Amino acid sequence: KDFAGRTAFITGGANGIGLGLARALLAEGVKVAIADIRQNSIDDALDVLDNQEAIGLRMDVSSREEFAEAADEAERRLGPVSLVFNNAGINLFQTIDESSYDDWDWVLGVNLHGVINGVQTFVPRMKERGKGGHVVNTASMASFLAGPVPGIYNCSKFAVRGLSESLRYSLAPHGIGVSALCPGLVKSHIFASDDIRPDKLGARGKPVDKAFNVQLAKVHDSGMNPDEVAAKTLEGIREDKFYIFPHPEFRDELREVFDEIIADYPRGEAPVERLAFERGRREN
Ligand code: NAI
Repeated sequence: KDFAGRTAFITGGANGIGLGLARALLAEGVKVAIADIRQNSIDDALDVLDNQEAIGLRMDVSSREEFAEAADEAERRLGPVSLVFNNAGINLFQTIDESSYDDWDWVLGVNLHGVINGVQTFVPRMKERGKGGHVVNTASMASFLAGPVPGIYNCSKFAVRGLSESLRYSLAPHGIGVSALCPGLVKSHIFASDDIRPDKLGARGKPVDKAFNVQLAKVHDSGMNPDEVAAKTLEGIREDKFYIFPHPEFRDELREVFDEIIADYPRGEAPVERLAFERGRREN
């Protein structure tokens, strides 16, 4: 795929993986809109990137209105967006049985509805223009591997993977690629998600565990460098890969998940008629 001259829109572009993507895309001659909820991080990111082709837009991905306004402004200033990175995400490290409705609304609002808003905003524009492009949704290894503590995060990321896979088949005829980016541990600020939790969703199922958060910061510091994640992501887009797995260390855990599915799946006669969704999947 040709990157140079295109415009990218990166949610959560001011830190971590998003900032790595911004840096890698600018180096390829792509114009980049960094859409993020943290104004101070946007300012810092623009300083660090030091590139006229990058702009910052303060917005909350969970708001349909703010998403559409940011998209309009990005296109007004940088031209039509054809590379969409639905990447903004937060994590609440607690189990589902410890979670409140506000916890659900906050995490699904950002991690799932943020991606939905990106799709609803940009996909019709990309289809209409007929110039192809690519949508990358940042899922996670947590979109395959569940445990007690990812909790709602697991749910949000499984959903992002499902959304992405269905979208992949529907956009293939339009020449628009879709990828699900599934990283393991990355050096980022996600451990500090709590700082940007909105007051209106403040009813917690469980009080913040400050000591645990200090541990989390250390753990994330040992993660993969975002520039490496970004380089692998661009390679994945070029090769039109659906799954982009930057980390090599999860092969055995993935195999366990699929082995359990196959082991529990009944043996028997295959039906003559396949389900409609399977047919749609095989045609593309
Ligand atoms: P990060 O915290 O360093 O960067 C995320 C950015 O998203 C931040 O700049 C933050 O201000 C922004 N953001 C958060 N809520 C927002 C909202 N409502 N509207 C607009 N912007 C918002 O974290 P990281 O790790 O770079 O996260 C990026 C994506 O990668 C997320 O979807 C995360 O779930 C995913 N991920 C991260 C992994 C990790 O180990 N760090 C592993 C696998 C996936």
